[in-house]
This record gives sequence, C-alpha cells and structure tokens, in this order.
Amino acid sequence: MPFDVARVRASYPALAEGYVHFDGAAGTLVAAPVTDAVAATMRAAVSNHTDVFEPGRRSGEIVAAARSAVADLVGGDPAGVVFGPSATALTYAVARALADRWGPGDEVVVSRLDHDANVRPWVQVAARVGATVRWAEFDPETGALPAGQYADLIGERTRLVALTAASNAIGTRPDVAAIAAAAHAAGALVYVDGVHATAHLPIDTAALGADFYVTSAYKWSGPHIAACVAAPATWSALRPDKLMPSPDEVPDRFEWGTLSFELLAGVTAAVEHLAGLDPDVTGDRRARVLASMGAAHAYSSGLARLLRDGLAAIDGVRVLPAPAGGCPTVSFRVGDSPPDRTARALAAEGICAYAGDNYAYEYFQRMGLRASGGAVRASIYHYNTADEVARLLDAVKAVAA
Ligand SMILES: Cc1ncc(COP(=O)(O)O)c(C=O)c1O
Repeated sequence: MPFDVARVRASYPALAEGYVHFDGAAGTLVAAPVTDAVAATMRAAVSNHTDVFEPGRRSGEIVAAARSAVADLVGGDPAGVVFGPSATALTYAVARALADRWGPGDEVVVSRLDHDANVRPWVQVAARVGATVRWAEFDPETGALPAGQYADLIGERTRLVALTAASNAIGTRPDVAAIAAAAHAAGALVYVDGVHATAHLPIDTAALGADFYVTSAYKWSGPHIAACVAAPATWSALRPDKLMPSPDEVPDRFEWGTLSFELLAGVTAAVEHLAGLDPDVTGDRRARVLASMGAAHAYSSGLARLLRDGLAAIDGVRVLPAPAGGCPTVSFRVGDSPPDRTARALAAEGICAYAGDNYAYEYFQRMGLRASGGAVRASIYHYNTADEVARLLDAVKAVAA
C-alpha cells in the first residue's frame, strides 16, 4: 500500500490551522492521541509514586509504560531508558558523570557535523578535567562525514566518541556502526545523538553500536521531553550527583526530581501513533514501529528528492550538499538574500521554515556561512505533501526572481 498521507494528516489537528510546516526538525506538530493522553493523565487521579494507593500506583505504571515505549521505538532495554527535560540536559548529565572518570591525557572525539548539544557538553567537561578534544571533519563539498578519519582520531586514550546519527542541518547519516566499531575496539564508549534521526528512520541502537542514544519526543509527534537509552550495566557504572533519599537504582538514579507523568503518557501515545503510521503492518509494537518508520522514511525521502531537484533547478539557489540516503532535511540559500529574509518571505506565504544555524554551530562555521545568517532549512516530515513542496518551490522562485 502506498503511504496514506491523508490518513496520517488527519491525526494532526494543528494542520487545520493551514500553515505549511517545513519546520519539523525544530519540533513537529503533536499527534491527537498524544494530546488526548496528556490531558487524560492530568484529569485523572495520578499521585506521586507509591504502592499504597491506586493513584500513586498509576504514576509508576505510566513511567514503566513510557520506558517500554521508548525501548520499542529505538531498540533497547526499558530498564535502561532515562528520561529528562531535553536531549541537551541529558547529554550534559551524562557528560558530567562520565568525565568524573577522566583525567589529563584522556581524549574525546566530537564531530563538526553535530548539533552543538552533542559537541559543547563534551568540550566543556573535557576542559574541566584536562582531557583532549579531537575533531572529526565533514567534507564541505559533499556534506559527508568520512568514517575513515576515525582510525586516526581514535587511540588507546580515547574515552568517548560523540556522534550524530543524522545531521539536523543537511540530513547526512554518518556510518555510525563503523565508527562505533572502531571506538569499541579501542575501549571507548559511543554517545549517539539520535534527536534528528529518530524522527525519520527505523532505529536500532544495537546495530548502530550506540552505548548511549539520546532522543527528544517533540521531534517525533510527542511532547517536550527526552530520553537517553543505554544498557542498564552501562548506567550502573556511573554515579551522578543525586539527593540522599531519592532512588539509587538504575535508571531512576539519573532522573532528578519528580518526572512529568503527563508528558510520559504522551510519549507512550506518540510511540503507539508512530507504530500505526502504516496500518497494514502487524506484529508486536517494535515490529510495527520498524515497518511504519521505514514506510514514513520512504515517503519523506521521495518528497525530499522533489524538493532538492526543484530547488537546484531555480536560478540563484544554492542547496547545501548532502550525500544520498540521508534524512529529508534540506538547507539552502537564495542568491544574496539573507536567509532570515527568505524565511520571512516564505512565512508571508504561510510556510514555516527556519533560518539560521539551527545550533549546527560547527557545521555553519566550517561552511563559512554562520556569520552571514546560516541557511534556510526545509525539513520534511511524514505529514508533508507533494503539493506543499510545490508551494514551497513557487515561493522560493518568487524570492529568487
Ligand atoms: C540533532 C539535534 N540534537 C540535539 C538537539 C537538542 O534537543 P533538545 O532540544 O531536546 O535539547 C536538537 C534540537 O534541535 C537536534 O536537532
């Protein structure tokens, strides 16, 4: 069955407002079952966790269900799913806990393709403990992150390799599995930023070789809350700062204060929603997630090809290069028009697309484009349509004319 985008769009009530959303990489619209679940949780008697009375048992059930849902979404052990307010906050927490075990002479490897949330925390904790930072470079001509360079970057003092599963600027998917294998051979851990990738792809953290995999639910139809997934034994080796009376077991040890039960109910609903994107697939939730995300990726990739080809055919438009097979995220500039001006012209046509560096700070620095405003980013999500791509192309043509 072809991907039924009309059916999918019907699950996103906010589409009724009529905007064209090419802003999903900054946060997607929320699926109706998610808002229903959040509201239902807030209307119900849900108390802070206790096994003494029913409302207190409910919060425990909500947390457990959300851990299972995230484990099904990315492939992992529910007992290794840690929740936090954002991917950035979780990455800082993991970086601090890991760096407690590092010292001068130890090394971390980061990449210039990454969102700054998977760069700066490592750079800052490394500076604090006297560890050395080594940089993986992307190829500005192709947008690829050559995996071969890691043979030189990784050595016996490497403690951690931080790497994105997909660029939020241009969609590039580095060969995480090969790079992780090189890291593991040297005894290093691998921290994968899955914030962009999880929205678009079937994910298997084990196949990627991710020791840690971080993802944010607001990028995949859910609420503003994030999760970091690792094996329980990996978490057990870390001792973060924590309150004396709070649980010391894993994963709770890493979750500070009371979790947002309503948003966690939304996380479970979001994963259920994603699992149902392709209604023809059957099986357990993990199998349905993998098949549905595969179908969504095939559909979105088709739109991204239309968009790239259409933009490339417009005189004066510069599309930032990216290797084939990436996430459906396209950055471009129109002649001498500052990206912000282009984005405002698109907004006047009801089209939402961001301009700037989108926190892909090192990428835009290296491209020499940051100081002049970065780029306009059109990110496609599975609720976009070919008609919307055509509208975007018409609006860009008008700016270029
Ligand atoms: C690739 C990538 N990593 C990390 C982040 C940061 O996520 P959060 O807002 O949950 O901290 C983003 C947000 O845009 C992102 O796109």
